[in-house]
Amino acid sequence: MKNIVILISGRGSNMQALLEAKLPCRIAAVISNRVDAEGLSIAKAHGIPTAVVEHRNYADRDSFDTALAKSIDAFNPDFVALAGFMRILSAGFVARYHGRLINIHPSLLPAYGSLNTHARALHDGVKIHGCTVHFVTPDLDHGPIIIQAAVPVLQDDTEQTLAARVLREEHRIYPQAMRWLCTDQIELTGQGKVLLKRRKQIGHTLFSPGLE
Ligand code: GAR
Repeated sequence: MKNIVILISGRGSNMQALLEAKLPCRIAAVISNRVDAEGLSIAKAHGIPTAVVEHRNYADRDSFDTALAKSIDAFNPDFVALAGFMRILSAGFVARYHGRLINIHPSLLPAYGSLNTHARALHDGVKIHGCTVHFVTPDLDHGPIIIQAAVPVLQDDTEQTLAARVLREEHRIYPQAMRWLCTDQIELTGQGKVLLKRRKQIGHTLFSPGLE
């Protein structure tokens, strides 16, 4: 059975979705870069070992990343899942976990990388927004895409209502992506594309606003 380590920085709702999804893997540990991350107590309540590597205690990014990697490697993970982990990781760190480092991002990448994704989508007036699970590469928010979920942007949406609609789907696609990874159903090609093995290609068109 595969081992997963989850990295968080805060609330931990995506981590919780992974813990509650009954994935065919062992969640070996949850590691936070903030001692006050709310998700740590949720992990403890689920009986998952936790660790904290506080970025503030390190002089620079490389020394933090080295300490973080040491903490992760102690749990011998097959995959490292970033779940609201809000630190930019160095190229060396990303290379160390090539093909094993996964992230969830609250937009339909490559649109709206980085921060404030919902506010920027609202500002631009896009009618469809969403979330993405992808492999991490040194290019911030640009790695090979495993799964995306699209949601409509409604006329009276606020940043909060849109964020909540996207978050509901984050909690569905992250467990799905990790399930595929843990059961060897994902192939990452040399061209940086993700192929899904043994699975029919299905999907539905989302119109937003809807057709009449
Ligand atoms: C989630 O919306 C996640 O997609 C986002 O932070 C939130 C964390 O919430 N991640 C990023 O923006 C990474 N660039 P959570 O702690 O409740 O899972």
